[in-house]
Amino acid sequence: MGGLARRCALSPSLCAARSVGRRLGEAASARRARHAPIPCGACRVRLFDAAARRFAFALDPERAHQLSIRALKTAKSRRTRQPADPRLAAIVAGLPFPNPVGLAAGYDKNAEVPHALAGLGFGFGFVEVGTITPRAQPGNAKPRVFRLPRDRAVINRLGFNNEGHEAALKRLRAERHGDIVGVNIGVNADSTDRVGDYVAGIRAFYDTASYFTANVSSPNTPRLRELQERETLERLLEKILAARDDAAASHGKRVPVFLKIAPDLDERGLDAIAAAFNAEPADGLIISNTTITRENLRDRRHAKETGGLSGRPLFERSTVALAKMRVRLGPHVPIIGVGGVDSAESAAEKMRAGADLVQLYTGLVYHGPGLVRRIVGGLSAMCERENLTNLAAIRDAHVDEWAARRIGG
Ligand SMILES: Cc1cc2nc3c(=O)[nH]c(=O)nc-3n(C[C@H](O)[C@H](O)[C@H](O)COP(=O)(O)O)c2cc1C
Repeated sequence: MGGLARRCALSPSLCAARSVGRRLGEAASARRARHAPIPCGACRVRLFDAAARRFAFALDPERAHQLSIRALKTAKSRRTRQPADPRLAAIVAGLPFPNPVGLAAGYDKNAEVPHALAGLGFGFGFVEVGTITPRAQPGNAKPRVFRLPRDRAVINRLGFNNEGHEAALKRLRAERHGDIVGVNIGVNADSTDRVGDYVAGIRAFYDTASYFTANVSSPNTPRLRELQERETLERLLEKILAARDDAAASHGKRVPVFLKIAPDLDERGLDAIAAAFNAEPADGLIISNTTITRENLRDRRHAKETGGLSGRPLFERSTVALAKMRVRLGPHVPIIGVGGVDSAESAAEKMRAGADLVQLYTGLVYHGPGLVRRIVGGLSAMCERENLTNLAAIRDAHVDEWAARRIGG
């Protein structure tokens, strides 16, 4: 895959499948030839992102997503890694992250392109695949993904559409590159043994996952979020951690387990998670999944669609939840902050609110794949400006302010 297509391969711009990428690339070359001066590298990425985004936004969001995965598949064979900035490196839950910016679950649901995403110079420090359920399932009826461009947001009600454990496992086993690839595990919609589905996920992916995420917070699988109630969660964590400990003994390695929670919990709900977590200590939390609330949206066209809202409008709510959990759990529990990260400043603010690492998805839809490099570069620049030997020094700087806010404003 050529340089341009490589740059564009995420987001709707991800959808710039190769032929499109080539067409846009040719048009861009012609323009460049006509108009001096030639733009700098970063400007070219931005120009390309904008052109690819215009094209991609004309497509149905799921079609754009499929095309982007296809483009990345063909890019798999070339691996170039950007030189890492040691100030951004972090050891979290025992894993060595080259930088703190990861791809959130939901983009690569079937583990088709994790190494292309982690290793092709996009800049991600880690990638989370899934949610993967034991058996393949189609998810909800289409249309089920909606863009809200005025809010830089997405609403999705996909419902864990995925190809199941076996298909993903085959792909993960076929290709290993030393990238940090987490596996997000969930339950089938018609499951009669939800705890068993998570345990099956741990057993199936133990030899390939860098870490696990137990997703108990998708709003699109009926009653899934009930697993966040205190006793239910405690029992679930007990079984998941027991399965992990058994596997650790037989594989000779301990794979960390994160719990991914919703941003729609009130103070009592957060207390319940903290109590369950303290009783059955997993290795960390991911905060948060999408929200079922619809606060202050400007884009009225799709605002009433059922599903989980992600992107910029989620930033405040998910960051308050993150800070409140950091205060409840103390400084030593690893937390990954997710929700509305779309700039170096928003990534840094998640860390100041208590996050060790961040993840993003919707930001790519609106800013293109160049976003990850811009965030990572911006975090390096911040270290330079503030004379930090390690970015982790900013963690918790604003935790009390964020934790004092009401969830939902
Ligand atoms: C289209 C779409 C699909 C998603 N699918 C999943 C999923 O399968 N499992 C999961 O844990 N989170 C899923 N998420 C939630 C994201 O991982 C993330 O928690 C959320 O979107 C907030 O981050 P963002 O604002 O950067 O998008 C999905 C999000 C989107 C937009």
